[in-house]
Amino acid sequence: MIRVEEVLHSKYLLARDAAGCWPKPEQYDVIAMIPSVLHFRRSELWLLKLDMPIRSVFSHKFNRSHANRRTFRFVQSIMAAPHVLLIGGNGKIARLLTPMLLKKSWTVTSMIRNADQVSELQKLGEKQSGKLNVLVRSLEDVATDEVAKERIDAVKPDYVVWSAGAGGKGAPERTWAVDRDAACRFIRASVALPYVKKFVMISFITSRLEKAPWWTDEMWEKEKNTTLKKLERYYRAKVAADQVLYEESKKRSDFIAICMRPSLLTEEPVGKVALGRIPTTNGTSSRASVAYLTSLLLENPNVKTTWLDMLDGDEEPEAAVKRCVDEGVNCLEGEPYYP
Ligand SMILES: NC(=O)c1ccc[n+]([C@@H]2O[C@H](COP(=O)([O-])OP(=O)(O)OC[C@H]3O[C@@H](n4cnc5c(N)ncnc54)[C@H](OP(=O)(O)O)[C@@H]3O)[C@@H](O)[C@H]2O)c1
Repeated sequence: MIRVEEVLHSKYLLARDAAGCWPKPEQYDVIAMIPSVLHFRRSELWLLKLDMPIRSVFSHKFNRSHANRRTFRFVQSIMAAPHVLLIGGNGKIARLLTPMLLKKSWTVTSMIRNADQVSELQKLGEKQSGKLNVLVRSLEDVATDEVAKERIDAVKPDYVVWSAGAGGKGAPERTWAVDRDAACRFIRASVALPYVKKFVMISFITSRLEKAPWWTDEMWEKEKNTTLKKLERYYRAKVAADQVLYEESKKRSDFIAICMRPSLLTEEPVGKVALGRIPTTNGTSSRASVAYLTSLLLENPNVKTTWLDMLDGDEEPEAAVKRCVDEGVNCLEGEPYYP
C-alpha cells in the first residue's frame, strides 16, 4: 500500500470513473486532473491504491507539511467544494450566477419549471470545472413545507439561492404562490435541514415595512405612493418572505440568511457597486453585479446573516463585500421585527 504522503509527493491523484475503472497514473499530473476529477461526487473520489475516500484521508492523515502547496489547495478545493441549489435557475440573474459558481469548481443544481429550457441551460455547464445538474420542478405545486423539504433533500445542497419570481406574469395568485408561499416554504425547509448552511434571497431595496433610518421621510413617502402602490401584491409577497427568512434564521446559530436587495435590474456587465446602507433607492442594479456579489457572499467564510441594499455605484464588488462583512452591515435596521 502506498502511503498518503507518497501519493501527494508523487503529484498523482486518481478517481474511478463511472464504470469503476482507474485512469493510468502516469497520464495525470494533479493539476491536469482537476477538470476530470471534479466530475465525480466527493464521495466517489479516491486516492490511488488506498481505497479510502479522500474525506477520511484528509481528516485522519493528511497534513499540510506533507504536501506541496498546490496539492494541498487542490485537495482542499475538492473537499470544500459546496453544492448550491439555485431556485429559479433559468432566470436572468440565475443564469449569470451559474457559471460564476461553476468556475469555482462548485456543484450547482438549477431548479427550473420548463423542460424545454434544459438543453439550453446545460450549455452553461460545458467546459466548466464544476458540475451543473438541472432539475425540472415547478414552484407552484410546493403546497407545504414538507414538499419543499423533499425537494431540497433530493439535492442535499450546502447553500440555497432563491432567484425565482413570478415577475407579475400570469394570474395574480401566482405572485402569492411563488414570491410568498413557495419562498417561505423553501426558507422554512432550508432551516429545518441542518446541512443547509446559507440561504440567499434575491429581494429588492424597498422590500421593507418601515423606512430605513438612513432614508429621508420624503423618499419613503414617495416610494410608498409610487412603486410600492403599483407593485402592491409583489411588495407584500416579498416583504413576507424576507421577514420569514429573518425569523427562521434565528432558529439556528449555524444558519446564515443573506438578503440581496437590488433596485431596477439592468443587463449591464459586472461593475462597481453601492452596497449596504445607501442614501437613495433611486438607481439601477446590474444583474451581473447582483450575481457576482451573491457569489462573493456565498464564498465568504466570515459572512453573517445580513440584509444588503444594492445599486450600481463606485466601489469594487470585492471591497464592498469585505467592508460590509467586516463592519457587520445589516440593512434590516429600522424594521419592527429587528432588535
Ligand atoms: N425585475 C426587477 O427589476 C427586480 C428588481 C429587484 C429584485 N428582483 C428579484 O430578482 C429575482 C430574479 O430576477 P431576474 O431578473 O433573474 O428574474 P427572471 O429572469 O424573471 O427570473 C425569474 C425566474 O423565476 C422562474 N419562475 C417563475 N415562476 C416559477 C414557477 N412557478 N416555478 C419555477 N420557476 C418559476 C421563471 O421561470 P421561467 O423562465 O420559466 O419564466 C424565471 O426563470 C426575483 O427574485 C425578483 O423578485 C427583480
